[in-house]
Amino acid sequence: MEFLAWIEQTTVGLWVRESTWGFPIALTLHAIGMGFLAGINFAFALRVLGVAPGVSLRNLVRFSPLMWSSAALSVFSGLLLLAAYPAKSLTNPLFYLKIGLIISGLVLISNIAAAVTVHFESKNSVLHGREKLSAVALLLIWAAAITCGRFLAYTYSVLTVG
Ligand code: HEM
Repeated sequence: MEFLAWIEQTTVGLWVRESTWGFPIALTLHAIGMGFLAGINFAFALRVLGVAPGVSLRNLVRFSPLMWSSAALSVFSGLLLLAAYPAKSLTNPLFYLKIGLIISGLVLISNIAAAVTVHFESKNSVLHGREKLSAVALLLIWAAAITCGRFLAYTYSVLTVG
C-alpha cells in the first residue's frame, strides 16, 4: 500500500487525477488506442472467418504497424490512468484478468498473422479450421478485455484518493 500511495503522489499521478485536462486526455487516448487495436483485430478475425472475401488478407496484414502503435498507445494511456488511481485497479482481480486477456489477444493475433503469411508464401490461400477457431477465440478475447476495462469502474473495492 505504501508503494501505491507513492504512485498516487507522483507528478504524473497528481496531473492525471487533479488537473482539469489530465484524466479526459488519458481516457480519450485510451479509447482511441483501444478502438484501433480491437477494431483491427475484429476486422482481421472476421475476414479469416469468411466475412468480406473480396478484401485481401495480405492487405489486412499491412495494418500490423497501426495495430502495434495502437497497442503502445493503449499501454501508455492505461499507465497514465493507473498512476491516478493505482489502488483502485491493482487491488481488483478484474484488472489482472483484463491484462491477461490483452496479452493473450496480442499473442493470438501474432500467431494467426504469421500462419496467414505462411499460407500466402506457400501459395496456398485456403485457411485451416485451426485458424478459424483462433479467429473466434480472438473475437471473444477482445470483447472480454473491453468488458473487463469498462467494469473496472464499477467493481473496485479500494479507493485511497477521492
Ligand atoms: C497495459 C495496458 C493497459 C492498462 C494498464 C490499462 C489500464 C486501465 C485503467 C487504469 C483504466 C481505468 C479504470 C477505471 O475507470 O477505474 C482503464 C479503462 C479501460 N480500459 Fe484499459 N488498460 C490497458 C489496456 C487496455 C486495452 C488494450 C483495452 C481494450 C482493448 C482496454 C480497455 C479499457 C476500457 C474499455 C476501459 C474503460 C474506459 C471507460 O471508462 O470508458 N484497456 N484501463
